[in-house]
Amino acid sequence: MTLPCQRHLFDLPDEVAYLNCAYMGPLSKAVLRAGVDGLSRKARPWKIEPSDFFTPLETARELFSQLIGGDPQGVAMVSSVSYGMAIAAANLPLPRAGNIVVLAEQFPSNIYAWRQLALHNRAEVRTVARPEDDDWTRAALEAMDDRTAIVAVPHCHWTDGTLVDLQQIGDRARETEAALVVDGCQSIGALPLDVGVVQPDFLVGASYKWLLGPYSHGFLWVAPRWRQGRSIEHNWIARSNAEDFAALTSYTDSYAEGARRFDVGEVSNFALLPAAIAALEQTLEWGVEEVQATIAILTQRIADRARELGLQVAAEDRRAGHLMGLRLGSRSPAPLAAALQAEKIHVSARGSSIRVSPHVYNNDRDVDRFLRVLDTALRSIPTA
Ligand SMILES: Cc1ncc(COP(=O)(O)O)c(C=O)c1O
Repeated sequence: MTLPCQRHLFDLPDEVAYLNCAYMGPLSKAVLRAGVDGLSRKARPWKIEPSDFFTPLETARELFSQLIGGDPQGVAMVSSVSYGMAIAAANLPLPRAGNIVVLAEQFPSNIYAWRQLALHNRAEVRTVARPEDDDWTRAALEAMDDRTAIVAVPHCHWTDGTLVDLQQIGDRARETEAALVVDGCQSIGALPLDVGVVQPDFLVGASYKWLLGPYSHGFLWVAPRWRQGRSIEHNWIARSNAEDFAALTSYTDSYAEGARRFDVGEVSNFALLPAAIAALEQTLEWGVEEVQATIAILTQRIADRARELGLQVAAEDRRAGHLMGLRLGSRSPAPLAAALQAEKIHVSARGSSIRVSPHVYNNDRDVDRFLRVLDTALRSIPTA
């Protein structure tokens, strides 16, 4: 099922075609209101109760777990994808001469933690080269061997939406006893994922892109076998009995249940959490499958026309429906990006591609305007 255009929920001027959710998702009016209300509570701190440090966290855990088919016990709140990856890297064993499989040109938040870990353990970061046919799954499976300890991949590539079949990678990882770590930053909220099926060891997502939530807030889902692991900071809110503010100096070595021990410090963020919760509620109300199906119609129109204009686009079964790269070949993307910008059409230039990433607030008019400028600009951009 698809959704009718949801633009009325957002503050998007008619003349702006915002096709850049992969850069940053806009807040809906309701999410903005929740954030402003949350921030303004801090103006009257006597109204903030100890329970306010905990109750919204549990709501957020519950909602996020619904989105990914997980359990709330497995959800920790993090500040960024890099923070979540640091937790994964602090807990996953990596034998000497083992390897960590990553994809070429992955986002740095899913690279640096692994480079550091490999360096410390004299292990290898094995980078899967970009396959000509966009089949990352086959290429990653070929790169995995019995020395692979960790596979750290996205659900779709951030530059162009090319897909990774996480179920297949997960199955293979379990056969060789490797851990699967997933960067869901460019997929959670727009591309369905079920942790019961994929069985990742760690799954990280940020609120600020496809969840249309605030910046500096994200989620980490941790598989049961790692929930007794090591946190990377000593957040008092994550210790058992932290609810009893009068007894905080009865220090304890035990943690709150489940993945809560991994919660970032000052996790009870009064401004961000209400906004993140409102954003999750909205995505759940729409349904992730519906979001994907709705956006895919827009990107399909763009892909069809882009091919007619001579651009390369990954085959439909190799790319996600919400995020796509238009490959310009020998043309530079800069003049095209400038022409689009001049018409208030927002996309990203990534390498030799233009990345287009609509959401359910975009309409046919946005796509028409984009295609018109693309058509005109391509005629005037020389090929090298
Ligand atoms: C695939 C991917 N992962 C992570 C991030 C953001 O990482 P962080 O939350 O560490 O800033 C981005 C941002 O563009 C991204 O595209």
